[in-house]
Amino acid sequence: MNQTLILVLNCIFLFFINELTAQDMSIDQKVDGLLSKMTLEEKIGQMNQYSSFYDVTGPAPSEANAKKKYDHIKGGLVGSMLNVKGVEEIRKMQKLAVENSRLGIPMIFAYDIIHGYKTLSPIPLAESASWDLEAIEKSARIAATEAAAAGLNWTFAPMMDVSRDARWGRVMEGAGEDPYLGSLIAAARVRGFQGDDLSASNTILACAKHFAAYGFAEAGRDYNTVDIGLSTLYNIVLPPFKAAQEAGVRTFMNSFNELNGIPATADEFLQREILKGEWGFEGFVVSDWGSVKEIAYHGQAESEEHATERAVNAGSDMDMESYYYVNHIKGLVESGKIEEAKIDDAVKRILRTKFELGLFDDPYKYCDEEREKTMIYHDDHMKAVLDIAKKSIVLLKNEDNLLPLPKSGKKVALIGALADDKNSPLGSWRIASDDNTAISVLEGMKAYKGNELLHSAGPALVNGEVSFVMQVNINKDDRSGMEEAVATAKDADVVVMVLGEHGFQSGEGRSRTKLDLPGLQQELLEAVYAVNKNVVLVLMNGRPLAISWAAEHIPTIIEAWQLGTQSGHAIAQVLYGDYNPAGKLPMSFPRTVGQVPIYYNNKHTGRRYPEPVVFWSHYIDEENSPLYPFGYGLSYTTFEYKNLNVKVQGKKVDVEVTVQNTGSLAGEEVVQLYIRDRVASVTRPVKELKGFDKIMLQAGESKKVSFTLTEQELGFYNNQRKFVVEPGFFDLMVGGNSADGLSTEFEIE
Ligand code: GLC
Repeated sequence: MNQTLILVLNCIFLFFINELTAQDMSIDQKVDGLLSKMTLEEKIGQMNQYSSFYDVTGPAPSEANAKKKYDHIKGGLVGSMLNVKGVEEIRKMQKLAVENSRLGIPMIFAYDIIHGYKTLSPIPLAESASWDLEAIEKSARIAATEAAAAGLNWTFAPMMDVSRDARWGRVMEGAGEDPYLGSLIAAARVRGFQGDDLSASNTILACAKHFAAYGFAEAGRDYNTVDIGLSTLYNIVLPPFKAAQEAGVRTFMNSFNELNGIPATADEFLQREILKGEWGFEGFVVSDWGSVKEIAYHGQAESEEHATERAVNAGSDMDMESYYYVNHIKGLVESGKIEEAKIDDAVKRILRTKFELGLFDDPYKYCDEEREKTMIYHDDHMKAVLDIAKKSIVLLKNEDNLLPLPKSGKKVALIGALADDKNSPLGSWRIASDDNTAISVLEGMKAYKGNELLHSAGPALVNGEVSFVMQVNINKDDRSGMEEAVATAKDADVVVMVLGEHGFQSGEGRSRTKLDLPGLQQELLEAVYAVNKNVVLVLMNGRPLAISWAAEHIPTIIEAWQLGTQSGHAIAQVLYGDYNPAGKLPMSFPRTVGQVPIYYNNKHTGRRYPEPVVFWSHYIDEENSPLYPFGYGLSYTTFEYKNLNVKVQGKKVDVEVTVQNTGSLAGEEVVQLYIRDRVASVTRPVKELKGFDKIMLQAGESKKVSFTLTEQELGFYNNQRKFVVEPGFFDLMVGGNSADGLSTEFEIE
């Protein structure tokens, strides 16, 4: 047999051996194999993430840096990009990396798909008001499907920052004030984004953010200092992140804030001791935009190199847009300030996700122009986001049953600048979607043709045009339209007023010192009410608002948040009774901003109750209680709770209650269970949500609802960070909100 033939046979044999071993090699073996071939520079490249050249979601890069990016991508010095939009662009960037760099390692492409890519669901705070975990998971699934169809394989969501402060603009992005509800929602969103097979081309990496305690920024001012104790950290802040980790989330994002004196990006306790140590997290941590650089601004690093050293040693695996890792890690490794083993650990975590996504098999598997065309704004997605939008609406008040509106024979006035706004319902995190794609309330109400509909916007909410990143200039002095609006209201049978916040008055960088209706809206509301008492107030906002005047005077109020693409249809279907609202508040509404932070799971204190004189915990000018409590929401029907029974067996407690629909319409109720551990080694909240069940009841129907409490629900972390269940008496309450219901007690031996 001649030499050539032997050589050819050898090559074929080696190819098949290689193929065989590649096929049956584990992902970790593939990661190790690839890592062993990488130079230090190439490893560092995987830890470097750049934003694209438009759509910045942070301080924009300089021109020089933009040029550097192209060279670095081709040189294999970029592991990921964010804000690259669409299949064509992503394919172009991926080719730059894969076809020019020595090892051709694919990049992963990320975007802030917070509540949808093009087809938008309600903002996350609104979705959380649905208490419908299945619908919330489906909403994330749709977001992932559209994002993946657009070439993306990683979203910077879900945000799971518990917050008790409505002044903070980013409450719109989370699940509200409660760790139990927030944990279940975080896990549901992770499942929705990641699905059950990351190698599928319609699943994407999720990202648990912002780690940690960003929602506790002092005074509700974004990016501000956070200083909280271990009990709050372990019992309130961390549970949603732990739930996300247990749900298999593949990435975390650390937060801009310092926590107890340590910038989170440089916090080894958070990232290595808790996340990667105690919880065994095997994914990777990305910094938030430039937060590596900001370690020096916080005052915990004296140079770029020092900030880099702190971030890497603390377990921050990928650097978003500070350029510090790609500029400084090599020198720090060579000088021994960073062990190369730490670089290897970070790079293995990053490479592992790329293997899991299947990008090494096909770097362009997410780039399918046909799929991009068919999946974006798909009808099925529109139906699903309409469903979750309706479920997110909370009925706050409905005196004299002004709602639902009759479908014919009435003159209905629709008033307010937000009534025909097709952008604000999309919220502030609509960076991937398109302007004016929301169904406005006016359009939704026009779909009902039985009444005479009169529309008058009244004074503008903002002065001038607003683009995505601009400040919103609230109109405080131009009253044009006010007179016409009042005249329109005067001879109507009922007035629907759509008031609240502009879409960019909440979200990142948009904290407020007031929580009232901005601009001239309160004046308009009172002027309209003066001529027509039949007012339905529809709130469109990204945070709890202090609407005490409205709560006292306006007969009917619905909380409609920012409901996404199908907003107007959802609101109209609730107003006209085609959908019976069942939402429950995921965050307390204050009477006034002076009460903030205000939340239901507060502590008893040593002076909770009125004393003969002033020496008890209260204000001299306002009640302690919220305007509307956590878990609160009405229905067009009514519910009654009875027969609450509790059975204790060791550290397991079985609870049963009967709920009856005592009204004339079918409706859903979120049955909520709260406990209080009366006496413990660390003081416990006066109430903690530990179970809920959303049930549908026909008119007159009764249903038994059961819960089981285990150590997981009965226990808490003590100040030694140990999870404990301590014996003693517990109060237990079951009802339709956190303020009232049936109560009993039980004892754990
Ligand atoms: C922003 C946000 C973060 C977002 C990131 C990328 O500053 O804090 O939530 O994912 O930058 O846009």
